[in-house]
Amino acid sequence: MTVFEATCTAPVNIAVVKYWGKRDTSLILPTNSSLSVTLSQDQLHSKTTIRASADFTSDRLWLNGIEESIEKNKRLVACLRETRALRAQIEEKDASLPKLASLKIHICSENNFPTAAGLASSASGYACLVYTLSQLFQLPLDASDLSIVARQGSGSACRSLFGGFVAWEMGEKADGSDSKAVQIAPETHWPDLQAMICVVSDEKKGTSSTEGMQLTVKTSALLQHRIKEVVPKRMEEMIAAIRNKDFPKFAELTMQDSNQFHAVCLDTYPPIFYMNDISRAIIRIITEYNKDGVKAAYTFDAGPNAVIYAPEKNMAEIYAVLSHFFPGATFDDSLGLLSKTSTLPPL
Ligand code: PMV
Repeated sequence: MTVFEATCTAPVNIAVVKYWGKRDTSLILPTNSSLSVTLSQDQLHSKTTIRASADFTSDRLWLNGIEESIEKNKRLVACLRETRALRAQIEEKDASLPKLASLKIHICSENNFPTAAGLASSASGYACLVYTLSQLFQLPLDASDLSIVARQGSGSACRSLFGGFVAWEMGEKADGSDSKAVQIAPETHWPDLQAMICVVSDEKKGTSSTEGMQLTVKTSALLQHRIKEVVPKRMEEMIAAIRNKDFPKFAELTMQDSNQFHAVCLDTYPPIFYMNDISRAIIRIITEYNKDGVKAAYTFDAGPNAVIYAPEKNMAEIYAVLSHFFPGATFDDSLGLLSKTSTLPPL
């Protein structure tokens, strides 16, 4: 029996203008546009293999070697439904094509980074799933079209369809057809900009981003200010800083946006805390390090781990500074991962 198969990888992206809040929870339409840097595929990435065969009796999924239920995962089901519908359309137009849309599939996905590290893997995971499905089904779609499907798996996943610097335009339409990712600049634009991931804690976060966002949308007055008065201007300034390779401006905007995102979490009722004492110590260290000129930028997502963006020439010094304050930390140069088996010791 013929087996159809595709394997792809997709990188992680880390936002410098954060997405936080949905205006439509089922289509995953955001309350603001966002912008991220896609890490190099040599750093953190997901790898997915999908097979379709008439021998398979059900759709099945293995994540890092462990089988998980597909049916319970509405978002994964949505990505499958969308891509199968697109495949069915092209099969209808061309009768010579193999009938893949009706076949059951087996999905096998893994991350090249420690799963226990508490690093967001949904962005690379869903981007990889949707891209691999598009390859398997030979869908005639570009990366922006695919980002509309990946967005329905995990919002931030839409930005991992591109390398380099990527904006997720929030769009206006109720059907989400204009809420998509676009590339601001390719990865070759600013090769000097590097990312170091500091694993502060490998514990699973207390409040998921889905839960947290909706609570923020319902209760935070600061979020309303952020989405109306802050983000539109910040998006423009960030795009200009990236185009001009203006690191001090890029860094200032990145740190301000991370700070505001966590302020919005604190303004949520009841409040949400994603950073811990070690995260705040990293902020203090980087602030002190930047005293005579901005040489590094920190950013934190929905967890305590830090990502430090800096020009390549500063990275060794930043590592030395952080190792001084956190002596037990080890650095995996190939992944850009600063970590300790459990947690970095407090100052
Ligand atoms: O895509 P989600 O639901 O995992 O949300 C991601 C939200 C942040 O990581 C905090 C910000 C962002 O823009 O990636």
